Amino acid sequence: MQTVTLIPGDGIGPEITEEVIRILKEAGAQVEWDVQTAGADVAEKEGSPLPDRVIESIKKNKVALKAPVTTPIGKGFRSVNVALRKSLDLYANLRPCKNIEGIKTRFEKVDLVIVRENTEDLYAGIERQIDEDTAESIKIITRKASTRIVKFAFEYAIKNNRKLVTAVSKANICKLSDGLFLECAREVAKKYPQIEYKEILVDNLCMQLVQKPEQFDVLVLPNLYGDIVSDLCAGLIGGLGIAQGANIGENAAVFEPVHGSAPDIKGQNKANPTALILSAIEMLKYINQNDIAIKIENALFKTIKEGSILTPDLGGISSTKEYTNAIIRNL
Ligand code: NAI
Repeated sequence: MQTVTLIPGDGIGPEITEEVIRILKEAGAQVEWDVQTAGADVAEKEGSPLPDRVIESIKKNKVALKAPVTTPIGKGFRSVNVALRKSLDLYANLRPCKNIEGIKTRFEKVDLVIVRENTEDLYAGIERQIDEDTAESIKIITRKASTRIVKFAFEYAIKNNRKLVTAVSKANICKLSDGLFLECAREVAKKYPQIEYKEILVDNLCMQLVQKPEQFDVLVLPNLYGDIVSDLCAGLIGGLGIAQGANIGENAAVFEPVHGSAPDIKGQNKANPTALILSAIEMLKYINQNDIAIKIENALFKTIKEGSILTPDLGGISSTKEYTNAIIRNL
């Protein structure tokens, strides 16, 4: 039995978390949940949206499954997600993006992986109001973080039989910061002659992704470009409802969907739990419960391929619970 920290989040978080727990239980996963709440409600009661107990729990268990947590826009507390990644030094944000059979999209043959730097760039949160009409945000890029994220991308490529790593930047404009990122990428690339290495500017990447996404394999990006391009890539394969992710560091890993707390559909029993299910599957593989992971994966893909019971974001009319019930029947 493995203890895993579980953060149910807010918005649609608790609804999809409940379904994922149900699936893992039915599939026989050997997991004991250490439930840790975080977010706005917690901030009201405990004075912080991310109390130390959450960090301590993940440090102890070394692995967590996390649903989305709302971040106030333009004011209020700093993002719980960013703070969590920073305080546990979860430097690599891994977001595989592959077509799922049965989900119709404009593109076929999408099979790429986004490796997003997770600790710096504009997410360092260094901002100031210079005067009433001027605000400043500082973008931090360091050699240490750039080198280790590119190394992570190449190591991932080798372990997962990938052939090409593309470093993404805007080094024509951010000559020093993105220039440093590219310099580090080139240095690391030299050590992996068996993997092809390319570079692309982020604007060109966006155009190429919506024209010929199949040309890309592993993409490695600084934090902000990685965030934006991840959502774009989720769109290529059928939307945020099916886009999984993981935040990985030397000492802990937090598995979570790409999507946010979707307040527009909260409490309506129509959120798609797939992204969280896929994240949980990766979590199970990470803790060496491969058989259970594959069992759930097969049931999930079978349900989607059958196509009769799908949530509205995938063109269906079924509720979150009906969809989960179908997956459980297919286990
Ligand atoms: P969002 O991802 O929550 O929603 C964008 C759109 O996608 C909405 O129309 C939503 O209904 C839809 N959507 C998202 N997940 C879905 C699902 N599982 N099933 C069906 N439809 C789904 O992005 P938004 O609106 O920009 O952010 C809402 C809040 O979430 C913000 O406070 C943001 O900061 C937070 N957020 C949290 C993240 C995390 O906890 N890791 C990641 C991204 C955003």
